[in-house]
Amino acid sequence: MKNRLIVTILLGIATFLSLVGYAYLFDKRQAEKLLSQMTQLSPTEKKVAKVFFDNSCQYCHLPSAELPIYTQLPFIKESMEQGILSANRFFRLDHLLNGMQDPTQLSEADLAKLEYTIRHNTMPVPAFVHLHWWAKLNPTEQKVLLDWIYQQRRELFIPQNTEGVDVTRSIQPIPDKLKTNPAQVKLGDLLYHDGRLSGDGTIQCHTCHQLAKGGVDGLPFSIGIDNQEGSINAPTVYNSAFNFVQFWDGRSATLADQAGAPPLNPVEMGSKNWEEILAKFEKDEAFMKEFLSVYPAFNRDTLTHAIAEFEKTLITPNSAFDKYLKGDENALTEVQKRGYAHFKSAKCDTCHTGIAMGGRSYEYMGLYRDYFKDRGTEITEADEGRFVQTQDPYDMHRFKVPTLRNIELTAPYMHDGTITDLKDAVRIMAVYQSGKQLTDTELNEIVEFLKSLTGEYQGKKLSLENK
Ligand code: HEC
Ligand code: HEC
Ligand code: HEC
Repeated sequence: MKNRLIVTILLGIATFLSLVGYAYLFDKRQAEKLLSQMTQLSPTEKKVAKVFFDNSCQYCHLPSAELPIYTQLPFIKESMEQGILSANRFFRLDHLLNGMQDPTQLSEADLAKLEYTIRHNTMPVPAFVHLHWWAKLNPTEQKVLLDWIYQQRRELFIPQNTEGVDVTRSIQPIPDKLKTNPAQVKLGDLLYHDGRLSGDGTIQCHTCHQLAKGGVDGLPFSIGIDNQEGSINAPTVYNSAFNFVQFWDGRSATLADQAGAPPLNPVEMGSKNWEEILAKFEKDEAFMKEFLSVYPAFNRDTLTHAIAEFEKTLITPNSAFDKYLKGDENALTEVQKRGYAHFKSAKCDTCHTGIAMGGRSYEYMGLYRDYFKDRGTEITEADEGRFVQTQDPYDMHRFKVPTLRNIELTAPYMHDGTITDLKDAVRIMAVYQSGKQLTDTELNEIVEFLKSLTGEYQGKKLSLENK
């Protein structure tokens, strides 16, 4: 009886060890194969790629990777597939590798996420390391990745001459100014506040993006021409110049392209076509004279260019947090400093990253729990996010991350405008996006920290009128 047991145990150990041995050889062979395909990378980048492949990151973060044969066993298969689906929602290694070959494709948020997993030593997930003992970043490998991350951040994402830069931080201060052409800005300012862009003259850009109201209208859904209600919450125009694309679903690549959309949108400004809009201005001699002294022609392109140029001045530097980032230790209260620490440890800064603390990536809404199921109301087209543009199932419920700058002024929150209280928004984020149950104190401290993000426009701190 006793012998039987010993034999069974020994057999078990032998099976486990041969599985480990098999996995080792499989991992090694796959790592070599993948690395040999990276012909476009520089020697430094090859070193970075080698770290990923040597530590088997590909199994869960590279949809095209081959998996070891044991993953085909009935129980393992299902849980592996579920795990891989989830892992890829967080982070795609193929996207990062593309970004290494083409820096315009590199995501600032991916860098922040990678940095988080290295600093907190969370990857690969523990269950995986039980079988793949070698798949754990050693200090040399960690350094290779971190050095590369900092170098990319410095070269690609931090504007030159920014004060108080620290490449080990995923958030940078808002610069005092962006370079603009003042004459074009002035025209853009006029157009931004001009009802002639709308069919009946009643709606301006400013109707929905009010500069004295945090750059929004304070409504869950904006009201456009003929009192029609929109279907998605209006983001702030402040700091939209720092977004990597515009709109929740990224359908505009630039501010100028974005500015061309609302005038013809039937529920926003409701103009019939550009001829109709341009004709109204062309009747205005004074306007045309000024416009043509700045631009060679008056058309959709120059009109939207001017608005975009104006929007580049809608940035809000000098918040308490910016002062803190630039080295003024006293700019934040002790409570706010604790809030910032919770913010980082709940990895909020891996998505709310960069200068605007958002606007740098699309992220899946509901990583740790099903947000839409819990919300309980019907799913609309607006809920589909990036999917509407690409029809790629991977993009379902992915949204461009909203900025957190001036967040205390821009309620209601979320693309569906359902959350009115900032503390609720933070609680929801912690549960659905960070997988954390924060205490009441932690929530309050994060909210206090978020209040330090209110910046200045034209030298004056933003606030809500009548408040
Ligand atoms: C066995 C599957 C598996 C392997 C192997 C694996 N990961 Fe992950 N990874 C996950 C899962 C699951 C998540 C989702 C986060 C969580 O569960 O906390 C994730 C999340 C991530 C994230 C996003 C972090 C976040 O919290 O937003 C990054 C970055 C990442 N992994 C990098 C890596 C790197 C680098 C490696 C190789 C060293 C690696 N992963 C190996 C499963 C894996
Ligand atoms: C009727 C209300 C309304 C009007 C008028 C309006 N917008 Fe918007 N704006 C919105 C809504 C709603 C969104 C989000 C739509 C989406 O993402 O699908 C938006 C998005 C934007 C964004 C993208 C911000 C981001 O973070 O993605 C910018 C920039 C912007 N609007 C500027 C303008 C300009 C410039 C005008 C005038 C030409 C204008 N808007 C007119 C409601 C309006
Ligand atoms: C995985 C990426 C990710 C992480 C991590 C994350 N967020 Fe978000 N955050 C988003 C996305 C995406 C949205 C928009 C969701 C929507 O509208 O449905 C959002 C929205 C918000 C909003 C509402 C903004 C607005 O204008 O509507 C706040 C506030 C916010 N997040 C704060 C936080 C805080 C605080 C944390 C950490 C506890 C955090 N987020 C973690 C991606 C993330």
